[in-house]
Amino acid sequence: RSVAFIGSECHPFVKTGGLGDVMYALPRELVRLNCDVRVILPRYACIPKEYQDKMIYRGEFYMDMGMTNRNYYVGIMEYICDGVVYDFIDNQEFFSAGNPYINLVDDIPRYCFFSKAALAALNYMNWIPDIIHCHDWQAGLVPVYLRTLFKDTPVGRARSILTIHNLRFQGIYNIPTIQYWSGLPNEVFNMGALQQDWVNANMLKGGLAYADRITTVSGTYAYEIQTAEYGERLEGHLRYHSGKLRGIVNGIDYGMWNPETDPALAANYGLGNVLDHKMENKLALQKELGLEEDEGKFVIGLISRLTNQKGLDLVSAIIPQVLDGNTQVVVLGTGDKQYEDTFRYYEDTYRGTFSACIQYDEARAHRIYAGADALMVPSRFEPCGLTQLNAMHYGTIPIVRETGGLKDTVEPYNEYTGDGNGFTFDRYEAGLLLDAINRAKTVYFTNRYHWDEVVQRDMAKDVSWGNSARQYKDLYLELTPW
Ligand code: ADP
Ligand code: GLC
Repeated sequence: RSVAFIGSECHPFVKTGGLGDVMYALPRELVRLNCDVRVILPRYACIPKEYQDKMIYRGEFYMDMGMTNRNYYVGIMEYICDGVVYDFIDNQEFFSAGNPYINLVDDIPRYCFFSKAALAALNYMNWIPDIIHCHDWQAGLVPVYLRTLFKDTPVGRARSILTIHNLRFQGIYNIPTIQYWSGLPNEVFNMGALQQDWVNANMLKGGLAYADRITTVSGTYAYEIQTAEYGERLEGHLRYHSGKLRGIVNGIDYGMWNPETDPALAANYGLGNVLDHKMENKLALQKELGLEEDEGKFVIGLISRLTNQKGLDLVSAIIPQVLDGNTQVVVLGTGDKQYEDTFRYYEDTYRGTFSACIQYDEARAHRIYAGADALMVPSRFEPCGLTQLNAMHYGTIPIVRETGGLKDTVEPYNEYTGDGNGFTFDRYEAGLLLDAINRAKTVYFTNRYHWDEVVQRDMAKDVSWGNSARQYKDLYLELTPW
């Protein structure tokens, strides 16, 4: 099957979160399953020069955006790596900023342009895929274009899938602006498709209406988004379309995440020698971060975008109770100033036991996954979550809230049998997070035998893409049975 991925970020070119990991790993896995995959991305100016230099010019054309007296330049730059073809849509008017997301005033026009240009580029290259697989609101208009303005063009025969990685972001803006930039016909601005309310249009909502299938990144999230609590006001729309909705859980790329070969680590290790070498990584991490160097301390990591989604108010409420003299906490993340400041305050107050790395640093993330004993992910909502998967694969025990993909990937520890993968809590309450952390500590300090068993079980657990990529391929085949 041939598949075009369309989305706004992709490791190693540009990544702000898990979407970038998925856009990297899933196409590679699909290539292994004999799919023919192209990934279409904006050519942001912030893509590292090393990759800009490797791109080759594939062509250019001018595209009608529905406005009088001007057409827009679309350049196509191509880069091929490990069997995946990457096509970058070039237009410096839209993509010259240093970040993929600026603010909606800028983002609405650029992703209208991008979605339309991606389809026009497929026609231009005369590469017509069986499936067009779109990701999040930035590609939300693609299924709408496909069934309207592109219906009678070659690409119009492709089937579309829209994957929701995060329902919080939908691309909502006033109707005239989205009408102007998308150039879409009036009839799609109705309550069943793009219209949100009397004044606003919603790009994701339109895509969900027109896509042939909708997926999201875990089974539990697929259920949750049909409820008022998690539906972000689209629960009714999603329930209406639930017949074409399903959840497929994410995996991680075992090439990128492999403690046996990871060049960022102080000591490499595998399932056979994790218990010996994890200590070395812990000591190296403590040294790197200026924490008291003591392998007996229980080290809890947190690697996250610092936003309201991630449960950081719970974390900040309990830090003084968590730091009991035997415990250290390491935070790596950037985001809302309020959380950055809180964590900086704790670092100042608890020097040597609390470390706040307010930065985005991939290599350091790898060292925390390897050096910490536990990783907390107490999210308010979590469509899938990749950090708990990375942690488990590195023998670091997750402490998570039972929501979305966290619930689907972390089986709670059972103190009687010793079974399970991590420590969990259900309601969104600081006291319950503290309780889960304390349960983890109790096992760590008083029942190390069981703890080590969980470490090894987590490392052995299959969190790769293999199984999930096959489910996507099955979905592609279901849509194109010929
Ligand atoms: P989300 O997509 O909501 O941010 P995920 O758990 O799906 O959450 O993915 C987060 C990804 O971003 C993981 O690969 C994680 O390691 C990475 N990450 C998050 N914050 C940082 C950071 N400050 N430095 C390095 N990597 C980070
Ligand atoms: C989103 C979600 C996260 C998910 C990622 C990749 O950013 O917040 O839970 O893992 O997308 O699908």
